[in-house]
Amino acid sequence: MHNDIEKILLSEQEIEAICKKIGSQITADYENKKPVLVGLLKGCIPFMSDLAKHINTHVEFAYMSVSSYHGGISSSGDVKIKLDLDISIKDRDVLIVEDIVDTGSTLSTITKMLKSRDAKSVKVVTLLDKPAGRVVEFYPDYIGKTIPKEFVVGYGLDYDEFYRNLPYVGVLKPSVYTK
Ligand code: XMP
Ligand code: MG
Repeated sequence: MHNDIEKILLSEQEIEAICKKIGSQITADYENKKPVLVGLLKGCIPFMSDLAKHINTHVEFAYMSVSSYHGGISSSGDVKIKLDLDISIKDRDVLIVEDIVDTGSTLSTITKMLKSRDAKSVKVVTLLDKPAGRVVEFYPDYIGKTIPKEFVVGYGLDYDEFYRNLPYVGVLKPSVYTK
């Protein structure tokens, strides 16, 4: 285990099991469809890659980069698009792939936006869900694991852009934040 990690919340083995389980659910739910997986950069990368290996139907990959600012007690969250899709999603089945849902602002904004582009359907798969952090009502369609309100890193998730390459998800040691 990395020296900056206090404890592991999701091991490599658990991640593998999650990808297999959700992958087969998605395979069944999207039978005879050709969904577009819309990954939210950069956190989606390891999860989208591993999950897609277990989806046994034609899928297209597309990416977006968005940033959220949660000012104080503001409930709306100001979500900005930094990089937009390079394809039309009109009449397509869209499956947004996210690393973690916390306040819910990002996904509630992005799902509404993609629906307004006349997608046939818009669903969300997230590796992690922190329901205790919700500010905006939002329910992901597929959830890898529900976790407590702790700040986690690894497997796509970062602290100051680092730790995304860890093969597991863990909680940082408090000493790392105070360096
Ligand atoms: P919402 O809008 O649901 O946004 O609050 C979710 C985004 O917030 C970031 N986030 C985290 N990033 N560890 C991280 O590395 C965490 O514990 C965490 N909680 C939320 C993340 O960018 C996610 O896409
Ligand atoms: Mg993110």
